[in-house]
Amino acid sequence: MITGIGTDIVEVARIAKAIEKWGDHFLQHVFSQEEIAYCSGHKFPHEHYAGRFAAKEAVIKALPDIKQLQWKNIQITNDDTGKPRCVVVGKNLKHPIHISISHTRHHAIAFAVIAT
Ligand SMILES: CC(C)(COP(=O)(O)OP(=O)(O)OC[C@H]1O[C@@H](n2cnc3c(N)ncnc32)[C@H](O)[C@@H]1OP(=O)(O)O)[C@@H](O)C(=O)NCCC(=O)NCCS
Repeated sequence: MITGIGTDIVEVARIAKAIEKWGDHFLQHVFSQEEIAYCSGHKFPHEHYAGRFAAKEAVIKALPDIKQLQWKNIQITNDDTGKPRCVVVGKNLKHPIHISISHTRHHAIAFAVIAT
């Protein structure tokens, strides 16, 4: 049974501007070390950061009952095939979160589904 759904779209340029303006402070506030290592290891890091940002927003929409969910409570990794996985740390979440991410040079989009 699906118990929650969320989506978000992000302009890659907006994330690039935030990184340009706030630098490491922004990255450390929003992303885990693992996420930063993953994104910065790619040819177009801003696309991957934007994808993760969209995914975190999507998860927040899918979990309206989880109070005070911070960016870094939501952590996204990729398995060996590249498929994204999401865990919420520091909160008592009963059900798994499924996410899907896509990005172009300009936009990133993500969906999150909470399913029993
Ligand atoms: C998954 C795949 C189709 C993505 O295609 P794309 O159009 O180049 O990229 P998109 O921008 O739409 O999506 C990128 C995101 O897809 C997700 N993704 C990557 N591999 C994935 C997979 N195996 N399953 C689900 N999602 C995947 C990731 O979240 C990635 O973003 P991230 O690296 O920032 O986390 C491509 O990476 C691929 O073909 N991977 C190999 C899978 C495979 O076996 N293909 C051959 C059979 S057709």
